[in-house]
Amino acid sequence: MSLSKYSSRFSRFLGAAAAVAGTLLLSGCYWFDGPQSTFDPNGPVARSQMDLFYLTCWVSLFIFVVVGGVLAYAMVKFRARGEADEHAEPPEQSHGNPLVEISLIGASVLALVIIAVPTLAGIWYSFDVPAENKADSYGITATGYQWWFKFDYPGETAQTLDPTGKSMNAPFSVANELVIPSGRPVRINLRTVDVIHSFWIPKLAGKVDMMPNRANHLWLRADQPGYFWGQCAEFCGESHAVMRFRVIALGPKEFNDWVNAQMAPARKVPAGGAGDAKAQFAAYRSFHRNEAGYTGKFDVSPLDAWRAKQSPETGEDPAKIARGRELFAAKTCSSCHTIRGDGFIGVVGPELTHVGARTTIAAGLLENDRDELHRWIHAPNEVKPGNTMWVAGYLANNIKLTPEDEDALVNYLQSLK
Ligand code: CUA
Repeated sequence: MSLSKYSSRFSRFLGAAAAVAGTLLLSGCYWFDGPQSTFDPNGPVARSQMDLFYLTCWVSLFIFVVVGGVLAYAMVKFRARGEADEHAEPPEQSHGNPLVEISLIGASVLALVIIAVPTLAGIWYSFDVPAENKADSYGITATGYQWWFKFDYPGETAQTLDPTGKSMNAPFSVANELVIPSGRPVRINLRTVDVIHSFWIPKLAGKVDMMPNRANHLWLRADQPGYFWGQCAEFCGESHAVMRFRVIALGPKEFNDWVNAQMAPARKVPAGGAGDAKAQFAAYRSFHRNEAGYTGKFDVSPLDAWRAKQSPETGEDPAKIARGRELFAAKTCSSCHTIRGDGFIGVVGPELTHVGARTTIAAGLLENDRDELHRWIHAPNEVKPGNTMWVAGYLANNIKLTPEDEDALVNYLQSLK
């Protein structure tokens, strides 16, 4: 094959590579601000990680351009121009030239130092809350389960009833929706009850593993109130890919209101309907993704949708809600789930005292509306294969639900604002 054929192939390859790179850049508008994009940091820890990524990128790009340029220069300058050149002596060799060797070693060391110093600084920075902000930091414990996350607020105690019906204080926990104060450093202790998980909120911080018998932690700060996506980032079994969570960052007053709402026992809907509305939150607005051509964007901002979920829905059916509460015990749901104030104290599964006020269920996988909740309790194994509620609940206890049972349970759970 002649050399000119090689060079025309090479130029076609270059053209194709440029086209691919251009397509990636143009379509990047979505990629770069998607819900799990690390290119859109919303806090100092994620920003330091992105800065480090860019620095490494620029250094690598510089090396690529220099080495590629020298290679291209040599290929063009010393190429065989015809039959005669193909058997010619090689050009003068410069192997062992002390100036070239020392310069190359020096340049390599310099590149490593340029990357290593900010990398070490970044590792120290992301390890723990900076000393000057320690006094202001808020502590939360996150625990990984196959396949969901539990968040405990050890600094808060909630009102609940002891087994004799007396009021007592006890810690509260929430599942899969981590609510944090914005503008404040949050230190998160990372625990697991089973295998290794990894805690990652791409726009805020991560990833740090949740390891058995090892007390890991991380810290983060959300610049502004917002709604963020999180994900387990370590393969942890059958439903690892759907082990997700959300982070809701709220201003100081709204965060305080939320903690107060969580500490309260389960909401009661009186026989006449219309329970205690929480006036501080926005009125209910329906929360659906745009149906036509799903884009991952929302009709209302996810944070507004979260606020809307804090208020009771209109048209609640007190009889169905009461029936759902009975079924929750009768069908043994209560042996795994806590609902403070309704006498349910299971600890294997997520606490559900205020489950109706979350935007998602099934570890951030499904929107928390009536249809999706119905889909989840109807056949949890079809949504999240191998999950404990299915294996150790439905199968082990031979739980069968009629359509009326499911409807009543959905009404009860949705009333728990
Ligand atoms: Cu938990 Cu992957």
